[in-house]
Amino acid sequence: MINPFFKSKVNNGRSFSSQEVLAMIEQLANEVAGKNGFLHISKDTNAFFREHFASIISAMPDMELHTLFYSATKNNKLIETFYSLLYDISETFERRILAPSFRVERAAYYKRLITDKNAKPSDFDRIIIHLIDLGQIGFINAHIQSIAEQTSTPIRTMNLLRNNGIDISKYIPIINERKLDIICELSSQIPDIDVSESRDSLETITMLVDEVLKPQKLQFSDLQFISKGGYSCAFIAGDKVIKFGLPQAKYSIPRNSKRFIQPLVRHHFDIISQGKPSKLSFEITELCDTQTEVSKEELYQIYKDVRDQGMVWGDCHYVNVGRLKKDNIVHHPSIKGVKKAHHTNVGIEEANDVEVLPAGELVILDLDFIFDESDPKLAQAGLTSIEKEFEERYRREKVRKAIDIEKTPEIEPETPNQNISGDERE
Ligand SMILES: Nc1ncnc2c1ncn2[C@@H]1O[C@H](COP(=O)(O)OP(=O)(O)O)[C@@H](O)[C@H]1O
Ligand SMILES: [Mg+2]
Repeated sequence: MINPFFKSKVNNGRSFSSQEVLAMIEQLANEVAGKNGFLHISKDTNAFFREHFASIISAMPDMELHTLFYSATKNNKLIETFYSLLYDISETFERRILAPSFRVERAAYYKRLITDKNAKPSDFDRIIIHLIDLGQIGFINAHIQSIAEQTSTPIRTMNLLRNNGIDISKYIPIINERKLDIICELSSQIPDIDVSESRDSLETITMLVDEVLKPQKLQFSDLQFISKGGYSCAFIAGDKVIKFGLPQAKYSIPRNSKRFIQPLVRHHFDIISQGKPSKLSFEITELCDTQTEVSKEELYQIYKDVRDQGMVWGDCHYVNVGRLKKDNIVHHPSIKGVKKAHHTNVGIEEANDVEVLPAGELVILDLDFIFDESDPKLAQAGLTSIEKEFEERYRREKVRKAIDIEKTPEIEPETPNQNISGDERE
């Protein structure tokens, strides 16, 4: 909803006094709910105000504009909102009156946010973007250490600096001392997950990631983002993949299958996220190839192999498979590499030996929705169209096989669940 205050005030072409505009900026600043600044202003209000701000500014007499500029920039509460609004129209604004002084003042403000230890800005990257925009590369270079120590998003800031051609050689060693912060940053890419309050889990995860990186002579800054969905985000750590997921994911797997990527670590950590008890799913697996094409027949073979073990692959999709780069060894869930798994540690309920699929074969990468064929939750989840098609084919083939073997045409196939809802899942 657009704040009625703006609607009543904003009137294209009318000339506003600096006092009036200041009051509007104050209203806008007051809408800010949380510490993250104007990200919390309602989208409509923000869009509405931005659209009209340029015309308000153009209609203002020069002296009023000067007054507005100096009043707004001297007010700690308004300055962020004011600059954010100006950011979109700064060119017009600067050309009109404040050309040199405006840039200097603006730069001084952003510089102060970086140098003043009490400033504690919520979003470092936005400050850096402003400074780059103002041509302050020299300043950024000179303060790269301070940026590395203070940013709450070390990896995102690193990418921003690097993408703008800034030398990050002094930045990297500092953020690599901030391992816990990096794990917080990476896992917080999943909506509503904040692991920073859960010190024990955070430290364990950090240690595990460190153990993956160290033997490969890699550092936390080398973690490369590969995928982000609504429920998880995954990063490449050399020849391994680190995945964080939401607690909705199903942890337990009825039994092992050769078609499952054998996790090195698979665990649901208890965490307190945003004040509430929650879980964070955490996985370390071998990096597989997801670039080469997978045929429908190959996808069915995977489905069939899992079905043959009395399970249903509930998230049967091309994006959830990968080609092994190494043999699919059943690991002990420790990076140190004892070869035989204690199945329960990675969420596999029943001990069963599985064939080790060699490199080049396809495996399921996403183990979140593996159901026992008799699991009532399977019916709740429903089947997608491809799963229905595969399930029908699987039953047909099973009947045919039974006929071939026993030469009795009346054999009913064993079925996983007849009440599968017809609703398509996403
Ligand atoms: N071991 C792996 N090797 C290569 N890519 C992987 C691996 N694990 C996950 N991925 C990539 O990350 C994506 C998301 O992982 P997935 O387990 O499917 O999470 P989600 O629960 O969000 O679907 C996959 O579609 C795949 O592209
Ligand atoms: Mg998936």
